[in-house]
This record gives sequence, C-alpha cells and structure tokens, in this order.
Amino acid sequence: MPDTAVVTGAARGIGRAIAVRLAREGWQVVVADLDARELETAAEEIGALAVPGDTSTEAGVRHLVDTAYDSLGHVDVFFANAGIGSLAGLEATDAQWARVLETNVLAHVRAARHLVPRWLDAGGGRLVVTASAAGLLTMLGDAPYSVSKHGAVAFAEWLSATYRHRGIVVQAICPQGVQTRMLDGAGPLRELLTLDATLTADEVAEAAWQALAGDDFYVLPHPDVGDYYAHRAADPDAWLAGMNRLQQKLDQQTQQTSTAPTQENA
Ligand SMILES: NC(=O)c1ccc[n+]([C@@H]2O[C@H](COP(=O)([O-])OP(=O)(O)OC[C@H]3O[C@@H](n4cnc5c(N)ncnc54)[C@H](O)[C@@H]3O)[C@@H](O)[C@H]2O)c1
Repeated sequence: MPDTAVVTGAARGIGRAIAVRLAREGWQVVVADLDARELETAAEEIGALAVPGDTSTEAGVRHLVDTAYDSLGHVDVFFANAGIGSLAGLEATDAQWARVLETNVLAHVRAARHLVPRWLDAGGGRLVVTASAAGLLTMLGDAPYSVSKHGAVAFAEWLSATYRHRGIVVQAICPQGVQTRMLDGAGPLRELLTLDATLTADEVAEAAWQALAGDDFYVLPHPDVGDYYAHRAADPDAWLAGMNRLQQKLDQQTQQTSTAPTQENA
C-alpha cells in the first residue's frame, strides 16, 4: 500500500484538503506552497514536512523532489495541485500568460522530469494533476486559464500514454466550482462558476482519495462534467454555440451592472 505523498499548493484550498485526507489515513506527507506562513500552519496541523517555495520553477521543483526523497525515502504519489488564474481574456499580457502557463503546465512537466526516472527505477509511481473542467471544456472570461488547463490535461495524457505500461499511473482531477479562495477571488466569473452546484475542498479531496484505489485517468468530482465533455465531443459546434450564448448572457449582465444607477450618479 503506498503511503508517501507530496502535495503542491497545500497551504489552503484543495491541496490542503488532500494533504489532510492523506494524513488522516496515516500517510507521510510533504507539503509545498508559495505562501510560507499558511503552509507552516497547515503542515503543523497534520504533522507534514513543509517545503515553502515556487513549485513552478525548475529550481523549486528540484528542491521539492530532492527534499521529499531525502525525508520520505520514496514518493508514491505526487499531487501537482498548485494553480492560478488570470481573469483575463485578450487583454492578458505576455507576462500573465507566461506566469499561468508556468504554474499550471510547466510545473507538471518539471515535476515529471524529476519523478519519472526515479519511478521507473523503483517500478512505478503516480502523478495526480489537479487540472480543471476548464481543461476539458473552457473557462469563459479567462483565456490563459483555459489554455493552461487544456495543456495540463494534454501533458497528463501524453505521460499516461507513454509510461502506463511501465508502472506510471497518471490521473487528472477536473472539478468545476470548488469553494476555495480561488473561487472567492473570481470576481465577475464567480456567478458563472456557481451556475452548477459547487463542492467543498474536502469533497474534492475525498474524490481524489477514492481515485487512488484505481487508475482511472479522469477524476470528475462534479459528475455533470463528464456529460458536458461527451456533448462537446459529439457535437462541437452545438457545444460552442451554447458556450457563446452563455457569454452573451454574461455580456448583458456586465452591461446592466455598469449602467445601473449608483447612489452617486442616480
Ligand atoms: N476552486 C475552483 O473552483 C477550482 C476548480 C477547478 C480546478 N481548480 C484547481 O485546483 C487547484 C487548487 O486550487 P484552489 O481552488 O485550492 O485554489 P487556492 O487559491 O485556494 O489554492 C491554491 C494554492 O496554490 C498556491 N500556489 C499558487 N502558485 C504556486 C506556485 N507557483 N508554487 C507554489 N504554490 C503555489 C497558492 O499559494 C495557494 O495556496 C488549482 O490548480 C486550480 O486551478 C480549482
């Protein structure tokens, strides 16, 4: 039975909930996050080793993986969970695109680069990527997020297709709205993300935990996502037309909000 894991983006939200779930099962966990203070609190709560730092850079990932192997001896499961959005469309700057792609895609590539050779030597290992429903569908209002999450799913698929026969299990968690600080900070997109029922971070962690018992590639905590994905594949134009109708509704709402009289201009 595997019992060691690394979780990135574990200071709060989904990553923290996954780390707590694993610790409750008696796993030894290494947690990583940019936010050193919140990470320390989370690590203390579950008796995990905290490795503060940026898990998207080559140096940050190398340090994290080396520290985890030094401390745990081996890493059975690596949860590549840290992620960010930009809340920007065409106006997103090159710097925003780069930051989101580094965090949501290249972090996974860099982790795999350090982990897969070790796992091949050891006879196996498991990478669990927190992608998003945005990686299977799209996320209106956030172009870098949508593209990066498609990239995260694509890289995970490539890894699975390439190494599955050599004992490497890859899984992609693709939730819709989850009640975390990311959702709270989604501004005008919050309404869109809460059209369907949202889940708690604990519920997503439970889905992740259950998924460890098998090797299904997709982990879909919101079951509707599977239906939307099937609809998209069966009739892409009808699906795109539906997404565009949703965008038009959003545009109308934004217009109404911006023209609604305020106390100052009423
Ligand atoms: N909340 C949602 O609705 C939702 C839906 C689908 C997918 N997701 C994905 O779930 C994952 C976790 O998101 P969350 O909702 O828990 O968000 P969150 O903002 O609550 O937590 C994300 C954590 O990642 C950390 N982080 C960000 N960039 C980092 C970096 N470069 N290095 C180290 N740590 C970094 C942050 O400091 C934060 O603690 C993300 O990949 C996100 O895209 C979230």
